[in-house]
Amino acid sequence: MIVQEFKKKIIPDIEIYELGDVYEKYEELIKKSKILDFSPIVQVWTSSASTKVLSYYSHGIFRYFGKFPSVVARHLINTYTSENDFVIDPMCGSGTTALEALLLNREALCSDINPLSTLISKVKITKINKNIALKYLKKIKNYVNENTCTNIENLIGLKNPEHWFLKETMISLTNIKTAIKNIDMESIYKDLFRVAFLSIVRRVSTATTQQGRLFLDIETAEKDAFPFFEKKSLDMIDSLALIPENINIEIKQESALSIKNNKKAKLIICHPPYFNSYKYSGINSLELAWFGENHANVRKNEVREFFKVGKPEKVDAYIEDMVKVLFNLQNLLEDEGRLALMIGDTIIRGNYIPVTQMLIDKVSNNYDVEISALRIPKFTEASWVASQRRKSGNVGINLCDLIVILKKKN
Ligand SMILES: C[S@@+](CC[C@H](N)C(=O)[O-])C[C@H]1O[C@@H](n2cnc3c(N)ncnc32)[C@H](O)[C@@H]1O
Repeated sequence: MIVQEFKKKIIPDIEIYELGDVYEKYEELIKKSKILDFSPIVQVWTSSASTKVLSYYSHGIFRYFGKFPSVVARHLINTYTSENDFVIDPMCGSGTTALEALLLNREALCSDINPLSTLISKVKITKINKNIALKYLKKIKNYVNENTCTNIENLIGLKNPEHWFLKETMISLTNIKTAIKNIDMESIYKDLFRVAFLSIVRRVSTATTQQGRLFLDIETAEKDAFPFFEKKSLDMIDSLALIPENINIEIKQESALSIKNNKKAKLIICHPPYFNSYKYSGINSLELAWFGENHANVRKNEVREFFKVGKPEKVDAYIEDMVKVLFNLQNLLEDEGRLALMIGDTIIRGNYIPVTQMLIDKVSNNYDVEISALRIPKFTEASWVASQRRKSGNVGINLCDLIVILKKKN
């Protein structure tokens, strides 16, 4: 593996294979995805680096299910832009593109429909002062030790809080949340601690942390959330003190279906929800409830991915939404700019649905495909773990992502 020293962190490179060298290994996938029907050049991208290694700087502050590896965003930015160029990520999730744009000195606009996502992204790229943050953490600790709430937080939009949290956990979480709210501190520190708090909600709940989808795993529940919050805060403080000062990255809450911007981008990185895979408002419903946001309100504006519905015919509605997104993004792209779409195909009851090929076909009057890549995930990634739960690979998303580089037609 080729590595480069970047300040104090080691950043791994993505590994790229030409199709001819690995064709036999991926033949079935190549045929089923029909990737050769729509892409003149196909590569295979992979990274053998561990999740820990890929979490350099602040990439690891939040376990956002379905985030893409940092090195994918890094490779795309390095290949298709130069320093100070403008990058857009209209479905930025936990801000992977935002941090890479910051580290690589690009300007960027990153947006998402989910307010949890925009908060995480904002915090991920905000440099903090370690001593000040530690001082506030101490104040939070003292507050939690000295005060106990009498009323448990009202968890908006969460139907059955007792199913997902022990009563003691809810008291402990309410205490931490109240401390963050009541202690006077600058907004960047408040946001840091809000993200630290939200990042441990799943860990101390009765839900499994292994998969995005909410399954009960009562054994992992913790009554006292504070030690988890404290550890998370300390880790975050360490990594956020190291990042460069942000002057060029803007984070907005907006829909990719309608986002507008005067300045056009050299590169758009678009990583939507996959058909029949995660509904982000749903898999984050515990965090959204503690954030004070009703997940049903977020859901209304999401791309229709039909999570858990399992009806192949629904793919048409997914594609309809994604065509709207891609048409809208065309207006945000410079004439010579590129749109890198990272998406996944689906298998329902044993039938492979070549979602990517179906979508690309619908936008072929507007975009040319330049090159595509199959991205092979590591077996530790959540999508792989989730697929193993399901019997004989008959259900679920494909085990690899497709990255399609589109050039807008003039
Ligand atoms: C696959 S995730 C992106 C993950 C991201 N690349 C990362 O590394 O964290 C897809 C994102 O699309 C967002 N999303 C869904 N519908 C959207 C819409 N209509 N407009 C903007 N974002 C949307 C979800 O909230 C989710 O964060």
